[in-house]
Amino acid sequence: MWDCHTGPKLPPMPTITFEPFHSRITCADGESVFEVGHRSGVPIATICVGKGTCGTCRVKVLSGEEFLTPFNAAETKHLGNVYFITKERLSCQSRLRGGGDVVVSVPPPKVQKKD
Ligand code: FES
Repeated sequence: MWDCHTGPKLPPMPTITFEPFHSRITCADGESVFEVGHRSGVPIATICVGKGTCGTCRVKVLSGEEFLTPFNAAETKHLGNVYFITKERLSCQSRLRGGGDVVVSVPPPKVQKKD
């Protein structure tokens, strides 16, 4: 679509906002929440670095879940079937689709106690 006053009208770029950092990042359709957070310095926990095997990259979806790919088998394995209650997803398995804005909450890192 072209507007003669403003130039080509491009579809809006999707964004992900990472709370509690108030960090709103523009991203491309198909990128995972983990990839966007990782390249932007958002401290999302990980062991497997986005392979879907460690289950540590959990985020809570606050809004825009309709702009993420559906819950998959890797997420069911690590999180169970309680998304409708917890709204938790594995950030590496949640990919942007449809060009909307998503807001997620990143949990604080777990502190390991020494015995
Ligand atoms: S980074 Fe390991 S499961 Fe997502």
